Amino acid sequence: MTTDFLPIQGTDYIEFYVGNSKQASLFYQHCMGFEVIAYGGPETGIRDRVSYVLQQDKIRFVLTTSLQPESEISNHVKKHGDGVKVLALRVDDATKSFMATTLRGAEVASEPKTIQDEFGEVMTASIKTYGETWHTFVERKNYRGPFMPGFKPVKSSLQISPIGLKYVDHCVGNAELGQMDRWVNFYENVMGFKLLITFDDKDISTEYSALMSKVVSNGNGYIKFPINEPAKGKKKSQIEEYLDFYHSAGVQHIAIATDDIIFTVDELRKRGMEFLKVPDIYYHDVLGRVGVINENLEELRKLNILIDRDEEGYLLQIFTKPVQDRPTLFFEIIERNGAKSFGKGNFKALFEAIELEQGLRGNL
Ligand code: FE2
Repeated sequence: MTTDFLPIQGTDYIEFYVGNSKQASLFYQHCMGFEVIAYGGPETGIRDRVSYVLQQDKIRFVLTTSLQPESEISNHVKKHGDGVKVLALRVDDATKSFMATTLRGAEVASEPKTIQDEFGEVMTASIKTYGETWHTFVERKNYRGPFMPGFKPVKSSLQISPIGLKYVDHCVGNAELGQMDRWVNFYENVMGFKLLITFDDKDISTEYSALMSKVVSNGNGYIKFPINEPAKGKKKSQIEEYLDFYHSAGVQHIAIATDDIIFTVDELRKRGMEFLKVPDIYYHDVLGRVGVINENLEELRKLNILIDRDEEGYLLQIFTKPVQDRPTLFFEIIERNGAKSFGKGNFKALFEAIELEQGLRGNL
């Protein structure tokens, strides 16, 4: 038996660099039911930036905006628009994780450091992955504060009702043409992940756009990173559209798990979240494809939730439209009923829905 040289306990947080974290935090609170739990900025001794930390069950998002015109954060926002900067991984030993991965070839983003306050200490260290995205290893076993030293606990000023979002199921990266295998190799060789599934362009091409995808997963399976790259199609691939607007590889979507997708999606819709729409005909033959499910098909149809089955069970999923002005990052909501796969049976219907939107943007 080989030992996992990079044991990961889960996603610690996802940090977004955004143009206006104060306003973005209201979107995540109001639309997605997150609560603000901590704040860092000038009032807490951080002079150059402002960060709001939001939480719902096991999911933690950090929204960060620069207070300076020239900074790594403002340059990131200028180039990419609002987007994911850090996929942080909780580990038992941040220094060891950093050593293990940099020894295997990871590029250093930030050396190991300890930060302290009255609640204890947090160790962090960061390495680079695709585009300008980082993985930060977070060791917080000796910390009792709300997030990190430099942040003060705060309470939402809004009356927040959660919508049943539980944990990050998977995070998908879009790589440039020909770069998917480079990043799959990175996760295998540098991070000790295993290749879980391969989708080639025959699995996921529509009339216009095509893509290829490979899914890598860490030792305990808590972390799953599908990596896409564009494949040749008749017209512009949805991955190319992303790359044209993000101006580099980056995080395409974050899939969030719920135990009750009907409740979650109903709430999201009421609160203004926009979703991709598959044509009604999808529901005419879907049960023939997926067999018996516990949910009422009519309710799923009304909310436009998609269904797929694999050998182990079935899953329900839906995809939002991009959540910022650029057609880049979006969210997936997923409820797993045994299925461990990613909804391959829905790719065609889904990508046709994406292409409809791409066409409206003049990007096909
Ligand atoms: Fe997904």
